[in-house]
Amino acid sequence: MIDQRPADHPGLEAMPQLDSLLPQLTAALSKDDATLFERRLRRVYPRLISLLEHVYGHAPDFPEQLARILSTAAQMFRERPAALKRLDVAREGDPHWFQSEKMMGAVCYVDRFAGTLRGMSKHLDYLEELGITYLHLMPLFKCPQPQNDGGYAVSSFREVREDIGTMTEMAALAATLRERGISLVLDFVFNHTSDEHEWALKARAGDPKYQAYYRMFDDRQWPDAYEQHLRPIFPAQRPGSFTYDAEMGKWIWTTFFSFQWDLNYANPEVFRAMLEEMLFLANQGVEVLRLDAVPFIWKQIGSDCENLPEAHMLIQAFNALVQVAAPTMLFKSEAIVHPRDVKSYISWQECPLSYNPILMVCIWEALATQNATLLRATMEKRFALPADAAWINYLRSHDDIGWGFADEDAAEIGLNGEDHRWFLNLYYMGRFPGSKAAGEPFQFQVDPRSHKPDIRISGTLASLIGLEKAMAAHDQGEIDLAIRRIVLVQGLVLAAGGIPLIYLGDEIATRNDYAYKREPLHAHDSRWLHRPQMDWERAEKRHDPKSVEGRVYQALQHLIWIRKENPLFANGDSQWIDAGNAQVIALARHQKLLVLGNFSDQPQSLSTGRISPETRWKNLIDDRELSGQDLTLAPYELLWLIPLKE
Ligand code: GLC
Ligand code: GLC
Repeated sequence: MIDQRPADHPGLEAMPQLDSLLPQLTAALSKDDATLFERRLRRVYPRLISLLEHVYGHAPDFPEQLARILSTAAQMFRERPAALKRLDVAREGDPHWFQSEKMMGAVCYVDRFAGTLRGMSKHLDYLEELGITYLHLMPLFKCPQPQNDGGYAVSSFREVREDIGTMTEMAALAATLRERGISLVLDFVFNHTSDEHEWALKARAGDPKYQAYYRMFDDRQWPDAYEQHLRPIFPAQRPGSFTYDAEMGKWIWTTFFSFQWDLNYANPEVFRAMLEEMLFLANQGVEVLRLDAVPFIWKQIGSDCENLPEAHMLIQAFNALVQVAAPTMLFKSEAIVHPRDVKSYISWQECPLSYNPILMVCIWEALATQNATLLRATMEKRFALPADAAWINYLRSHDDIGWGFADEDAAEIGLNGEDHRWFLNLYYMGRFPGSKAAGEPFQFQVDPRSHKPDIRISGTLASLIGLEKAMAAHDQGEIDLAIRRIVLVQGLVLAAGGIPLIYLGDEIATRNDYAYKREPLHAHDSRWLHRPQMDWERAEKRHDPKSVEGRVYQALQHLIWIRKENPLFANGDSQWIDAGNAQVIALARHQKLLVLGNFSDQPQSLSTGRISPETRWKNLIDDRELSGQDLTLAPYELLWLIPLKE
């Protein structure tokens, strides 16, 4: 579509010159702010223009659209609180602050963790105990009731859900967090709005301006044509990616649930309006913006409408404008897609931060197979990032696990990707002999294109890793092993570099919450299995070193504080190494720290000789000294070794 632009599009020559626009843009700014704004805008201008020109340049009114976009940036910069403007300047001088070993992330739903935003501030000491410096609060915006996809259907980006609090409280919380050295992370659900967003309501009432904010069709001709190539995301609820609205008599593009209307980014006014919402959030004190569902924002007939080049251009254009108006705020991408595509969003100019679903999936794969080969081979190939970017490494989130390793990576080590996914599904549903997992299927479907069955997996870290079953059976031996597995995988995530992210509740070994099945609003969506209310009474047990909660919590806390005090854990230089034993993962950090993890329930031996000439080591975890090159790791043992000088 974009490539069919008319030959007479204005082109760069006719582009409004920045010099002629600047006086108007900066008219309402103080002298200092005007200078700053101009300096930042000049820096990004050529890139910004070429991105926007590529996407929107075919429209005859492109120059006016561009001027409107820039004036939105200027206006939002003017409204930015002074404290945040100061932080902007500080961060411009320290752009890689997020690479530090001191970074530690946590994520939760405000209502499920603390009830309200005010309640949240009562638990800041709890977060500090865990050394948290990055706090992701999942969507807390106004949303339809009762169905809202856990808040991922937003009715207003400027209003907080009434039962959680107000936007003023949110901004106050952001300021309190900042004082405590914690960066607030919020979602920007920008692929869609809820069908109760003001724009959707106006569209439904027949306003053509707002109908053009979404992707709507009078009949099935286009939807049918598009659907030939689309991947259904929630097929168990509804086939296809379009929803009929009887009031308008139109089909609306709805990639996710039918009440989540996809925005039409082919309309530059949508880009401008969403820029304004984004900068509004930045001005409340948001330091990291989690860009939800990035792969889906651009559509092109004949393609699967995921990861298209224009999606990248739009995110880069947003990024450039944020660099001008609110440079503190960094983007984090949520792209849960093929490993190659996950990485395509990651760069300083696009998303400096990204979830690392590849590491997450391969860790669960290694636990199921008791073999670290796919994990190592995949990481060797896919872990490295540009120096000014970082992964957010995690084990569980509020979403399901889809087995997103690459078929080609699996094939290289002799695995058939499809069969292996099926094995993993059976394993994590507890339906494979010897499986210790207690997961549930999410969105069973037969893929309409390949005709192959497909499922994803729900469950908490503790339940998927075997602790739930072991506790139910009162099997001390299995409980011990499950806890060792938790420590092993948490330790790997903490040591890998980037920002480790805990899904709050996992630190006290929260098990599955089967109550969701009795909740009519949640029963259809097994992701609620792993979204329980925080159990604060159980959290008290973290102080009891004999309880399961205490054992898991204290081990994790211990690892976190070791990490925070040692720059060898900072981001950068992660070498995944073949340790010569398929059951053991080996990772060298900054050429010094050697991380070893045994993924099997048997002791494993290896020689460090093939990794390093050192012969004397200290294990940072328990201060034990090890000498010689032949090491034996106990079942599921984790070692963080540094060389000891003679
Ligand atoms: C993201 C969220 C998920 C939500 C979807 C639609 O993937 O993590 O929970 O269902 O986007 O917004
Ligand atoms: C996402 C993913 C999909 C995931 C879903 C939410 O954006 O692409 O794999 O399962 O939304 O559950």
